[in-house]
Amino acid sequence: MSDDGRRYLTTPIYYASGEPHLGHAYTTILADVLARFWRQDGRDVFFLTGTDEHGQKIQEEAARRGVEPLALCDEMAERFAAAWRTLSISHDRFIRTTEPEHVAVVQAFLQRLWDRGEIYEDTYRGWYCVHEERYWTAKDLGPDNACPDCGRPTRHVEEKNYFFKMSTYQDALVRHIRENPDWIVPEVRRNEILGFLQNPLEDLSISRPKSRLRWGITLPFDEDHVAYVWVDALINYLTASGAIDPSRPPAEQGWDDVSGSWWPADLHLMGKDIITTHAVYWPTLLMGVGLPVQRQILAHGWWVVGDTKMSKSLGNVIDPLALRDDFGTDAVRWYLMREMPTGSDASYTPERFLTRYDELGNVLGNLASRAISMIGKYRDGVVPDASGTGLDAQVAETFARAREAMEQYKVHEALAAAMDLARTANGYVEDRQPWSQAKDPSQAGDLDETLATLARTLLALCALFEPVAPGRMGDLAGRLGLDGVPTLEQARATDLRRRPVTKGDPLFPRIEPSWASD
Ligand code: MSP
Repeated sequence: MSDDGRRYLTTPIYYASGEPHLGHAYTTILADVLARFWRQDGRDVFFLTGTDEHGQKIQEEAARRGVEPLALCDEMAERFAAAWRTLSISHDRFIRTTEPEHVAVVQAFLQRLWDRGEIYEDTYRGWYCVHEERYWTAKDLGPDNACPDCGRPTRHVEEKNYFFKMSTYQDALVRHIRENPDWIVPEVRRNEILGFLQNPLEDLSISRPKSRLRWGITLPFDEDHVAYVWVDALINYLTASGAIDPSRPPAEQGWDDVSGSWWPADLHLMGKDIITTHAVYWPTLLMGVGLPVQRQILAHGWWVVGDTKMSKSLGNVIDPLALRDDFGTDAVRWYLMREMPTGSDASYTPERFLTRYDELGNVLGNLASRAISMIGKYRDGVVPDASGTGLDAQVAETFARAREAMEQYKVHEALAAAMDLARTANGYVEDRQPWSQAKDPSQAGDLDETLATLARTLLALCALFEPVAPGRMGDLAGRLGLDGVPTLEQARATDLRRRPVTKGDPLFPRIEPSWASD
């Protein structure tokens, strides 16, 4: 993590060969919640996502559909962008690897490797899985030469390739991982990579002959070859950072000075299936061009049904993304974030979804509606002129808990802390019994204090829940008379006294899901 308050955060760029699914959504929502939380906490954030548009997988899918690869990518990039709009994703940039700027940065990167003597030519013999876009050696393969990752058939290839001297960076990489215990989190993934690095690291094939694959970025030093799609894709993080300006002469391209750009990235977020590319290929490539490596890698787990990765097989389970139609975006975001401890796998069940949804309605929604309606009933809809500091200590403690959990990416714990504060505020209502205070004129001052405290705590909750429920918290801020959701700092500093509040529909209404009656 950088200590200058800036955070550059990335998701993987998704293959433009298929539709956005729950796996993509989970990674992206997790990144969004981190980005929003950091902004709420006063940091300057650059949040990047996008689409991975070259390689054999795209070329073959386009051929199957009888369209040009770029036409397929245009359509799919728009599908991803639309999915992120409906899921309230607040990325700052959506990068596509077919953009001219990216193509130029990839070429500058490869040229630099070439100039530094980091690349050589050789014959590659082995097996290739198009679905995973990666090579395997015979000993890795399953029965009938199946890919050990996805089980699909692999193809034997023998061809001229260019290789990056990845093996020469093995020791430097191991040293980096050992000296920076938090560089890969969670620890189970760090150990996995250290285990992998106990075997000799091979050099990395970084090109494909155009005779086999046309859809890629042409190598700057051999126009009969294109860049390997993973190398092309990883470089997206550098392109978007603005560190390399390929329009400038090579000597001025900023390889030695990344100041003024977002590089190095603070956090590369991804699922555990693609950690080797991010923790081994990418940092060694960066070492090869002489750039600093990314500051941290976070690998999350999978949503599973039984023991199958959910994106592979949904079976007859309801796609949680479809729950948006009945319950709204914020409810889906809340479920996915509250239910899965970052880094572990989790099983999706509609029953758990309903339980989590009820928590939103019964605790947070209920607090908001009773607080605002009591201010309406007892004080004509205006927050009383009282300090409202009755729960300030609990608010401060919750902010600290949430911040600490978020620093460790324990999003589910930060959200649990926020929900606990809402529970505490409901308990405060029960203790203070405003309906009794209202009956006794001598308790008018106490009632003012109760209502002002509830309004002030709601404001804090609004700031705390914004990262996961930006839509509904926007509504809540409006009901409290504000133009937008306050940051954590503003929530503490804003004075709600004498402000009018407005009642509205329940934030998280009771819903009879269309499938529950089946
Ligand atoms: N294009 C590459 C990434 C290149 S990054 C330089 C790629 N794309 S992908 O379309 O396959 O998306 C992968 C992302 O989706 C990973 O973060 C992966 O973990 C996530 N998921 C896919 N299925 C998943 C689940 N069932 N559960 C959670 N996330 C999973 O790989």
